[in-house]
Amino acid sequence: MSHDIRDVETTARALVADGKGILAADETVSTLTKRFDALGIRSTEQSRRTYREMLFTAPGAAECISGVIMHDETIRQKSSTGTLLTQVLSSQGIVPGIKVDTGAKPLAGAPDETVTEGLDGLRDRLAEYRSMGARFAKWRGVIRITDVLPSPACVSANVHALARYAALCQEGGLVPIVEPEVLMDGAHGIERCEEVTGMVLHAVFRALFDQRVTLEAMLLKPNMVIAGKGSTRQASVQEVATATLRCLRRHVPAAVPGIVFLSGGQSDRLATAHLDAINRLPGPKPWKISFSYGRGLQDTALEAWHGRDENLKLGQQAMSQRSRCNGAASRGAYTEQMEATAAGAGSSAHRRELQDD
Ligand code: 13P
Repeated sequence: MSHDIRDVETTARALVADGKGILAADETVSTLTKRFDALGIRSTEQSRRTYREMLFTAPGAAECISGVIMHDETIRQKSSTGTLLTQVLSSQGIVPGIKVDTGAKPLAGAPDETVTEGLDGLRDRLAEYRSMGARFAKWRGVIRITDVLPSPACVSANVHALARYAALCQEGGLVPIVEPEVLMDGAHGIERCEEVTGMVLHAVFRALFDQRVTLEAMLLKPNMVIAGKGSTRQASVQEVATATLRCLRRHVPAAVPGIVFLSGGQSDRLATAHLDAINRLPGPKPWKISFSYGRGLQDTALEAWHGRDENLKLGQQAMSQRSRCNGAASRGAYTEQMEATAAGAGSSAHRRELQDD
């Protein structure tokens, strides 16, 4: 069946509607199990379902959440009342999405680097996911910074796979979210992150052009330009915002409808403050700038819930709170006071460092 690319463009624009962004809830079973383990929560198919259902039905969150990225396990699950979770989302006007890469695997001949796999059979998997209600997809390439990395081999393998994936998505009627994540791990300064991020984005768009991807019918999910976690000189919010917007202006074509950041291990409030500061900067911003946060939206909700039924409401309050704050940040209208009005929600006590997918 052939799909009209204009429908894909419409979905891409809907995902970055005013004041809205995306919830990334597509952790693999092993990554979510590690996060549950850290809090002493037993990870079963049922407990993962309960957790995802809590996030998807948080009252008021749909006002600021345009789409949810799910994992294969979740897209097949039903809610506690027997409704497919995809329908739980659609009935609130939230677009269902699906992670389709099969993970970052060691790249041959490139020690300490990975290439993300999952192209084999992807056309058929996309058709199945679309028949289940998915209208957008995600693929994450991973780039590591050291004094000598990333290697050209790592960048070219990852951007080629991202572009092949994006072309297949558009052919199959899904919006591709193209995620080239330059990791925060390392002791490098913000300047080195800007240099590598710019080089990677340049390679991404050259590969997308080569594979004839329609830029109007995709979203970019990049990292912010930020100092490495181990750097002794952490940049200020203003410095991060300025460097990030400068890098995006230089490397992301204006035809792309939206840029939705990953949170990447930043604390949830800092991820919100950075997004807000970027949106407040003067000068041209030809794309919508919003969020597609995993840990940045989920950390406080997971801690508040702690695997206990009696805490489901607290977990939902935390999810709604972070959604509202990030929705405001996507319009450059976030204030510290919005945090103070939170019922039962605090900043995440500790960051989830684990990110395997
Ligand atoms: P984080 O916001 O936790 O980095 O996750 C976003 C994501 O989808 C990574 O692939």
